[in-house]
Amino acid sequence: MQEKSIVLTSTFEQEVHEGLTAQPKYLSSKYFYDEIGDKLFQDIMAMPEYYLTDCEFDILEHHKENIASFFSNMDKAFSLFELGAGDGKKTKILLRYLSDKKIEFDYRPIDISQNVLDQLEASVNKELPNVTINTLQGTYFETLADIAESNGRRKVILFLGSNIGNLLHPQAISFLRNIQEILNDDDLVFMGFDQKKNPQTVLDAYNDKTGITEAFNKNILTRINNELGGTFDLDKFLHWEVYDPESGTAKSYLVSKEAHTITIGKLDLEISFKAWETIHTEISQKYDDDIVSWLANEAGLKIESQFSDENDYYKNYIFKKK
Ligand code: AVI
Repeated sequence: MQEKSIVLTSTFEQEVHEGLTAQPKYLSSKYFYDEIGDKLFQDIMAMPEYYLTDCEFDILEHHKENIASFFSNMDKAFSLFELGAGDGKKTKILLRYLSDKKIEFDYRPIDISQNVLDQLEASVNKELPNVTINTLQGTYFETLADIAESNGRRKVILFLGSNIGNLLHPQAISFLRNIQEILNDDDLVFMGFDQKKNPQTVLDAYNDKTGITEAFNKNILTRINNELGGTFDLDKFLHWEVYDPESGTAKSYLVSKEAHTITIGKLDLEISFKAWETIHTEISQKYDDDIVSWLANEAGLKIESQFSDENDYYKNYIFKKK
């Protein structure tokens, strides 16, 4: 590995430099997502092996009445914020129900991608014309301040898809604590947590035979090639998934099949890989009730209620301030 002094301007540049010069090597899964990565993730959600999406759909469909009764507590109008809203496909189950029941609320989806938000706004306006939608572009962290200063209505904050599972426990606690700090006593958080289950089921979800998850994992290398002038040969890496049923942590790796060297022009960096050397790219944490209540407690939250699918593969919890 050879390094020259160079100014790294973007966070992507800094984090790629840091991760690929570290021992062992790592990259953050947040960099999976560009236009291609977003599409691959949509494809993952449609795969039969990726049970998480179907389970959460199931929960929202079967429990919408009960969930809505928590949201519209004492008939007070509320704002429904959604962190990382994406295409809002699952959320529309709740939006439709709330709208049909003439419950007073407005929908405030938040996403890092303005493109995703524009599409979501257009589809909500078309499919659910009675729902008031105001989009907010930014990262979760940037937008928490905007949520805190919102219109004085009760807040209900959605965080679906077990997105929290991409954070290590200490990061998850600090994320939950940041949310807790902007909550008033009657505000709610509605969050999805994928549950511990047969380890084979988890492995299959992250290791599909069609190779969609492999392409998703490798998209991070494509982004480095396209955006930072990298020379990664994707065929020189294996997608590898491991799951530890004790900790509930699924981990994704890219494993170099042979010793080789790549360069990243924009970082003026040369990186050597030994045969079978790894790049750790993602964690997808699985939970049980004890872990969720521990996380909530550490963040100053309490579990108000919970909903699960018929197999208990997945749960949505409602949290309130302790
Ligand atoms: C977005 N996130 C919750 C997904 C997960 O399950 O960790 C991303 C994903 N990675 C591989 N498949 C799906």
